[in-house]
Amino acid sequence: MIRKYRFGVPVETEAVVQDLPCRKEMPESGRVLTDEEGFTYIRALEKETAIYGLGETVRGINKRGWVYVSENEDRSFHLEDARSLYSAHNFLLLSGPEPLGLFFDYPGRISFDAGFTKKDILTVSCDHADLYLYEITGESLKEICRTFRKMTGRSYIAPKWAMGFGQSRWGYKNEEDFRQVVKGYRENHIPLDAVYMDIDYMDAYKDFTVDREKFPDLGNFVSEMKDQKVHLVPIIDAGIKQEEGYDVCMEGLEKGFFCTDREGKPFDTACWPGLTYHPDFLNAKAREWFGNKYRVLMDLGIDGFWNDMNEPSIFFTKRTMEEARKKMREFLAKPAGDTPFFELAGLAGQLSSSEVHKDFYHDMNGTRIRHDRVHNLYGYMMTRAAGEAFERISPDRRILIFSRSSYIGMHRYGGIWQGDNKSWWSHLLLNIQMTASLNMCGFLYTGADLGGFGSDTGRDLLLRWLAFGVFTPLMRNHSAIHTRDQECYQFEDPEDFAHVIGVRYRLLPYLYSEYVKAALNDEMYFRPLAFDYPDDPMACDVEDQLMLGEGLMAAPVYVQNAAGRYVYLPEDMLFVKILPSGEMETQRMEKGVHYIHVELNEVPLFIRKDHFLPLAEAAECVEDLDEDNLTMLGWITKKTEYLLYHDDGYTRNLDVPEHYRLLSMEP
Ligand code: GLC
Repeated sequence: MIRKYRFGVPVETEAVVQDLPCRKEMPESGRVLTDEEGFTYIRALEKETAIYGLGETVRGINKRGWVYVSENEDRSFHLEDARSLYSAHNFLLLSGPEPLGLFFDYPGRISFDAGFTKKDILTVSCDHADLYLYEITGESLKEICRTFRKMTGRSYIAPKWAMGFGQSRWGYKNEEDFRQVVKGYRENHIPLDAVYMDIDYMDAYKDFTVDREKFPDLGNFVSEMKDQKVHLVPIIDAGIKQEEGYDVCMEGLEKGFFCTDREGKPFDTACWPGLTYHPDFLNAKAREWFGNKYRVLMDLGIDGFWNDMNEPSIFFTKRTMEEARKKMREFLAKPAGDTPFFELAGLAGQLSSSEVHKDFYHDMNGTRIRHDRVHNLYGYMMTRAAGEAFERISPDRRILIFSRSSYIGMHRYGGIWQGDNKSWWSHLLLNIQMTASLNMCGFLYTGADLGGFGSDTGRDLLLRWLAFGVFTPLMRNHSAIHTRDQECYQFEDPEDFAHVIGVRYRLLPYLYSEYVKAALNDEMYFRPLAFDYPDDPMACDVEDQLMLGEGLMAAPVYVQNAAGRYVYLPEDMLFVKILPSGEMETQRMEKGVHYIHVELNEVPLFIRKDHFLPLAEAAECVEDLDEDNLTMLGWITKKTEYLLYHDDGYTRNLDVPEHYRLLSMEP
């Protein structure tokens, strides 16, 4: 059941698609205080209550014990003390005999103190008492999640090729660089479906342009890559370069489609191109205009994009630059001995982005609104611009799109990647945990930069990370400029990488089927064990294993030099390793704790008893998968059936009976 409450004059975020009446009385689940100081929701927590949800946040799957803040931020360096990351997902689930879901539809800065300040109190607070609060009750966490997902609309479904493996790096500059990458993969028989084009493909970092010296004929090059069964996926940034004669800049100025300053003039910002303007994605007309720009690249054969820097990430503004200069001058005027060096290093960092958010405005379909009130919608609306345009431009084929920043509601238009991480083992664990929370919030098409974006990765870390990436719908190796080469073929024994990524392709009929079905039925593709086995206290404590679809459990190794790991089986399962020879090593295991050995080139799989996986033969790209010849793998004691979802991989008409195939297996 859903109860909806309205406080003040909320911003219409369109996160919720269901039309629900607002209640007159106060919420039942907690105490609400509203005054000029803002809004506070307080609820007492039982000792045993676990708090789930909150999507893209640090720490574990159970969020209890920390304060999380929704204030989207470009935070490439994040440790476990980070309060906010790139996205705002204000949905929480509380476990217990009467489980509860809470969604705070508020697009400004909002904080969730999940038993941190007071161990048994959940406090949610924001500066303005203008919001919708939804309380969702149900039999189980899974049911509440389903109700929430129905309420917020069907999750985006990517084309099937986008579930193939992709290689990315900030630093590939010209056609030759891309050819080398594809050659490296194909020669080593490491599967590959996509190579990502980072900012260097553009002319001076201008969106919807191509550097003609590096790519004399991008259309031709896209076809050349398609002949090798590789999709090119360019990046689009939120900031538009200020340049006389650049059509996107000129049109935006002429039509008044950029965010404005206090005086109503286009607001000066800065990002990769230097001085920029930020399109006003909260304005429907500006969205339509910007969305249509993707056509420039789609006409050249491009069928996938990633939207970046859309928190928005603003390097500086005129005001912050002047302030920085002033501080710098003051600093330099001091006698050398009086100025500790760390002060110099900290000068620019002292400029708060929360303050910048108060410096500019949107025209939200006729209403002028200051950015801080709607900050967390920016990436959502940028990606909505793209998603809506793709439906117009490509009505018959799904287009790949994922974003860095998001808000609930954006899950209908695109996926997300989990922002800039580091080549750290702790970020591999974070990836596993965050993925579960993101699924609760509707973001099914997601994945992290495998191997880690910043700092140098190790061969072992990359292999272990890929062995988790085998399961995530977005499976992409991405790294930052100036870090160690991170393409799989750059490491010793590339056949190990070919094997690990190869497992992904053998599992793809199942993974794709579970992914699409989860989206169509408002289910989670990944779930914490606590959601499937709420009455099993051991299962509820597991933070490093995930249930995936109907029959599979993932238990990745995420510790350096570990020869394996302990796994908790909440029921009897078949432990499987697919060997490089193609043979299967299987072991029937009873419910309980087991230690499993896992080599660096292995992907441990756990299949629930009386469930099975349909496996394809090895392939080096999605197009080459033979799904007419599937092998069933499982520990079956009775006749068992599985409903396989199988379509052409790109149709927008998804939920039709012809796409379902009933498979069965007998003991
Ligand atoms: C941002 C993105 C990263 C990209 C870089 C350069 O840091 O998060 O993925 O490589 O910008 O475009």
